[in-house]
Amino acid sequence: MAAAASHLVAGGLVAFPTETVYGLGADACNATGVARIYSVKGRPSDHPLIVHVASMDGLGEWAREVPGYAISLARDFWPGPMTLVLKRSLLAKDFITGGQDTVGVRVPNHPVALALLEAFESIGGKGIAAPSANRFGQVSPTTAAAVTEEIGEFLDSTDRIIDGGSCAVGVESTIIDCTGDAPRILRPGAITAAMIEASTGQKVVKASNTFVDSQQGAESTSTSNLISLAGAEIRVSGSLENHYAPAAKVFLCKTPTPGQGFIAHANVQTPAGVIRLASPNNDQEFAQILYSALREADAQGLKEVVVMQPIGIGIAVAIRDRLARASNGR
Ligand code: TXA
Ligand code: MG
Repeated sequence: MAAAASHLVAGGLVAFPTETVYGLGADACNATGVARIYSVKGRPSDHPLIVHVASMDGLGEWAREVPGYAISLARDFWPGPMTLVLKRSLLAKDFITGGQDTVGVRVPNHPVALALLEAFESIGGKGIAAPSANRFGQVSPTTAAAVTEEIGEFLDSTDRIIDGGSCAVGVESTIIDCTGDAPRILRPGAITAAMIEASTGQKVVKASNTFVDSQQGAESTSTSNLISLAGAEIRVSGSLENHYAPAAKVFLCKTPTPGQGFIAHANVQTPAGVIRLASPNNDQEFAQILYSALREADAQGLKEVVVMQPIGIGIAVAIRDRLARASNGR
C-alpha cells in the first residue's frame, strides 16, 4: 500500500478494487497523473472524475456549501456505493471536474481501497481520482483480471493493478446531485431513492432523462448525456447511450434462440441450444455477476446475448439503467 501510494504521488496510476467496480486511480491533485487516466481510458477529457477519499473529512476539503441533507447521506451511507456531487472547493481543479463548478466525492467501502486511501493521505495525498478501470464506453471491470484485459496494455511497467477479488456490489455507485434544494439521482446504484428519502427526509428529484425506474422496466428514456440544472449543464458520461457495452449485441427480454448467450434469474429455463452465461438467485447477485457475464459472452465469441432483466425496485433500477445503455434500445 505504501509503495502504491507513493506511485500515485509521483504521478503514476494504480488500479484498485472498490465494492462497486475496479477504479483506475491517480492523485486528484496531479494534472499529469490525471491526464494519463484519460489517455489510458481513451475518454474525452471534459468528462469529470470522482474523487475518492478515506473519510467524510474529505468532503470539507473538496467541496463547499455542503447542504445538510448531503451530510445526512454521507453519515448514513459512507463508506459505501454513493457519490455526492457538490459545489467544488479550490482544490478541485478543472482537470478533475471537466471545467464544471461541481465535484463528485465518494468514500468507497472496500478494505483495499480504504487501506490505499489511508496510506495515500498519510503521505499528504488529498484524494484519488478514479473512473471505472475500463476503456471508454466498455463494460466496467469487477475483477483484477478484467482490469488487465481492459487496460493492461496501456499501462506503464511501473503502474499497478491491486487484486482485491470480485466486487461485491457489481454496478457503479449511485451518483446524487447535492447542489439543489433536494437530492437528485444522476445515476442509480445500490443506494436507492427510498434509502435517500429515508436518510434525508426529503423527496428525491429524479432526472427524468437519465434512467429507468418504472416497475415495468424495459423502457429507456435516455436521450442525452446533458442534464439541465439551474442553467448549467452537468456531464455524466455514464448516462450516455451505448455505454457499458460488450462487443456482443445485447437484447432485452426476448426469447433467446440457439447460439445466443442468455442471462436470467435462476428460475428461468435455458431453451435448447442457448448458451447460459449466468443464473443469479436474486437481484443483488444479478448486479454482482452482470458485468462478468457480459465479458464472458465476448470471451466465448458470442455475437448476441439476451438478458431477462429484473423487474421491481432496489438495485434492479440500476441494473435496468445499465442494460438499457448496453443494449442501446434493442
Ligand atoms: O462506483 C463508482 O462510482 C466507480 C468506482 C471506481 O468508484 N467509479 C465510476 O467512475 O463509476 P466513472 O468515471 O466511470 O463514472 C463516474 C460518473 C461519470 O459518468 C461522470 O461523468 C460522473 O460520474 N461525474 C463525476 N463528477 C461529476 C460531477 N461533478 N457532476 C456530474 N457528474 C459527475
Ligand atoms: Mg465508468
